[in-house]
Amino acid sequence: MTKFYITTPIYYPSSKLHIGHSYTTVAADALARYHRRLGHETYFLTGTDEHGQKIERAAIAEGKTPIQFVDEIVAGIKELWSALHISYDDFIRTTEPRHKRVVQKIFRQLYDQGDIYKSSYEGWYCTPCETFWIEGKLKEGNLCPDCGRPVEWTKEESYFFRLSKYADRLLQHIEETDFIQPASRKNEMVSFIKQGLEDLCVSRSTVRWGIPVPIDERQTIYVWIDALSNYITALGWGTENDELYRKFWPADVHLVGKEIVRFHTIIWPCILMALGLPLPKKVFGHGWLLFGTQAEKMSKSKGNVVDPFVLIEKYGLDAVRYYLLREVPFGSDGTYTEDAFILRTNTDLANDLGNLLSRTTQMINKFAGGQVPEPDPATDDRVLAALAEQVVREYQEAMDRLELSTALAALWKLVDRANKYIDEQAPWALARDAAKAGQLRSVLYSLAESLRILAVALTPFLIHTPERIWEQLGLDPAQVRTLPWEEAIAWGGLQPGTTIRRGNPLFPRIETAKEETRMEPVTEKAQSAAPAAPAAEPVEGVAQIEYDDFAKVDLRVAEIIEAERVPKADRLLRLQLSVGGERRQIVSGIAQYYAPEELIGKRIILVSNLKPKKLRGIESHGMLLAATAEDGSLSLVTLDKPNFPTGMRVK
Ligand code: MSP
Repeated sequence: MTKFYITTPIYYPSSKLHIGHSYTTVAADALARYHRRLGHETYFLTGTDEHGQKIERAAIAEGKTPIQFVDEIVAGIKELWSALHISYDDFIRTTEPRHKRVVQKIFRQLYDQGDIYKSSYEGWYCTPCETFWIEGKLKEGNLCPDCGRPVEWTKEESYFFRLSKYADRLLQHIEETDFIQPASRKNEMVSFIKQGLEDLCVSRSTVRWGIPVPIDERQTIYVWIDALSNYITALGWGTENDELYRKFWPADVHLVGKEIVRFHTIIWPCILMALGLPLPKKVFGHGWLLFGTQAEKMSKSKGNVVDPFVLIEKYGLDAVRYYLLREVPFGSDGTYTEDAFILRTNTDLANDLGNLLSRTTQMINKFAGGQVPEPDPATDDRVLAALAEQVVREYQEAMDRLELSTALAALWKLVDRANKYIDEQAPWALARDAAKAGQLRSVLYSLAESLRILAVALTPFLIHTPERIWEQLGLDPAQVRTLPWEEAIAWGGLQPGTTIRRGNPLFPRIETAKEETRMEPVTEKAQSAAPAAPAAEPVEGVAQIEYDDFAKVDLRVAEIIEAERVPKADRLLRLQLSVGGERRQIVSGIAQYYAPEELIGKRIILVSNLKPKKLRGIESHGMLLAATAEDGSLSLVTLDKPNFPTGMRVK
């Protein structure tokens, strides 16, 4: 059976984790879920890297022992992973005896075989990064190339690992394989190695909070041998119980941020070569999530940290997971802003996917008695079926290359096409023509089946949404989840006759405070600040008005979120609108020109300060703008930018 072993970096529990750390972990989780769903025997490891001076100092600063300090933070990290539904199989802590024992064993073995030797080290040392640097690598003469802080000249007696001995073998391996991905990171590492590798200092005499060097109790093992070994200590390598190691090593992917690619592609493979163990198949270095308009790396020291708990609480788990994996091409840097987050959620999830489900279920209720209809082979154009097959292929290829945002973008091709397909096919018009009954059935089936497949493909990414889609389509989520992947993802799985269960919108639109403030009544000041009306050609028979008269009319952008016919009134539709965070109901005489389903999601112009009145006993508060032709036909005034925020003033 195919196996898949994926790891995240083990995180420093020096303070609470932020959305940047969540990014790596959610990505690893999506890949693990994908491989599990394919039926691969999957192992997903994460954990914490708990030793070192930084942690020791942070603990002292809070008046705690290091272990008390890390215990508390690790508990918080586990809570975060549970809030994000991270499906890890094991969580390794470097302070656990199972890890410490094996790290000491690794150290002793390397020492015994002459790959570790004692010497003294003098050099430029960055205390916060606990790294010695050679002069040529320093920034501006005396700054650490990683963190930019000043380095100090330090002399220390230490143990060294013969990194240089393995440099040639390593270079060959990197150049000849796809060990390092994406390719840009591979090139960086090749030139780094070509500049020459020095032996690596692997112990410290000044740091107490670490694993003691087994042959010299005055020293502790320096963080990289300790940390990197987690990928095999967690599997029980070097112990009697090494079944997991034998099953899962070598790792299929070490997922890491770009700043630690170097450690994973130089130090780690050399340690493994020295131990005579196989190398991981792939190290994937993803970019950073930068923050705000300055596009800075999110970091505790800069105080620009976005708390993932707050985001989940505010916008929901699936919106957060979707944003993280969709917004930034995996591998590149990307900038987080709350505005981009809201736009992404509203556009892709609330509008595109949410409306597709809402329109489809509404039409099946209306035109097919609430049951998924049998497609008609004679009229089935297979437009969505063919696209679904193509999109699933693209999605799978992207997942195999770890291009998570590309995989999601492929799925949204189907979402977009299906929404357009509704407008093209106009099922409400087909429903009026008995000769088109077969075509109507095919169209409705295609829409529902596209949604079922989309939900299957979304399961690695989103936690609650796939279930909610299947439930609305009348399917049993537990059953869909247990179908073999090939069967679940193939077109045609949805059984005609299934009774759908239309439910709440998948994602409520997020209305921002900014939009709401624009809903305030137009003030005197705002009116006088408005530009003077251009001198217009008089239209015959229409009285001319002053600009002040026009300014009394408050026009706003609104989105139609629900639409239904008014019983026993051929011309009327009852519409629910979203207007900058407010909900409005209007009754509109457009039923002869628009089917309710085709209106959902449209951005229209609302005369918002019209006094409310009742039409057929239903309150109508406002009026929409439409153009009428001489034959009485009518065209709604809509916005050409479909995501233009609602609540905006029109003038
Ligand atoms: N402890 C080491 C890793 C040892 S692995 C054997 C470490 N820990 S860390 O907590 O500082 O960062 C771990 C990882 O968090 C980074 O490599 C990266 O994957 C992720 N990120 C931290 N901040 C990030 C962003 N702002 N953006 C994206 N990822 C970020 O390094």
